[in-house]
Amino acid sequence: MDEKKRAEIKNALAKHVDKISKACENSLKRLGTDYLDLYLLHWRGRIPLEETIEGMEKLREEGKILRWGVSNFDTADMEELWNTSSGKNCMTNQVLYHLGSRGIDFVLLPWQREHNMPIMAYSPLAQGGSLRSQLLNDPAIDDIADKYNVQPLQIALAWTIRSNKVIAIPKAVQDEHVLANAEAATIEFTEEDLSRIDQVFPNPTRKMPLDII
Ligand SMILES: NC(=O)c1ccc[n+]([C@@H]2O[C@H](COP(=O)([O-])OP(=O)(O)OC[C@H]3O[C@@H](n4cnc5c(N)ncnc54)[C@H](OP(=O)(O)O)[C@@H]3O)[C@@H](O)[C@H]2O)c1
Repeated sequence: MDEKKRAEIKNALAKHVDKISKACENSLKRLGTDYLDLYLLHWRGRIPLEETIEGMEKLREEGKILRWGVSNFDTADMEELWNTSSGKNCMTNQVLYHLGSRGIDFVLLPWQREHNMPIMAYSPLAQGGSLRSQLLNDPAIDDIADKYNVQPLQIALAWTIRSNKVIAIPKAVQDEHVLANAEAATIEFTEEDLSRIDQVFPNPTRKMPLDII
């Protein structure tokens, strides 16, 4: 590579790292805080991963963020990330995961478990059931909900975090929902419950494309 090309790449990299820094600064101002516990790349985009990671690592060194992660990365993206120089500092991958959308159970979830990186499940309640109404009215889910004296969506949330390797981020404004979601964390399924759930929301038998909303 000639000097001119090398200088152009260096310049583009500096510009991108600067953009990440400004975006984070703006978020800190809007939130009225000095640092963030976790800062995520929303999706892959066109910027080379190395550049994004360099920006994230710089923010971490400056103390503006404590950790960084990614979102909407499928297994191939995670493998590529893992092979970059600081990719192993990624703390989580936030992806769509709920009982009615469990494609990641086939490859991505086992991959992340093997690499000791938790999945962060977004929309774990399928947006209150609107993405999959069967969560609200399936007879098997109703039966299991009755057994634990809870609502079907609490079963859906408890299922999402059943392995202790998945963090779920349900969004709830109403107090009763916040309390119900906290209570869901106390539900411990039996093998029989889980196999009944698998019968109505089957475990994938092949790699599925990552579901995104
Ligand atoms: N990374 C990404 O690309 C991405 C994409 C989408 C979403 N997200 C994030 O994921 C988080 C949650 O996702 P989401 O809001 O899409 O969906 P969600 O958490 O699955 O569902 C939220 C809806 O469920 C209702 N709800 C909450 N708890 C309930 C309960 N116990 N019983 C009945 N209804 C209940 C809420 O109502 P109330 O609010 O009225 O209580 C709200 O309408 C958000 O922080 C969002 O930013 C990330």
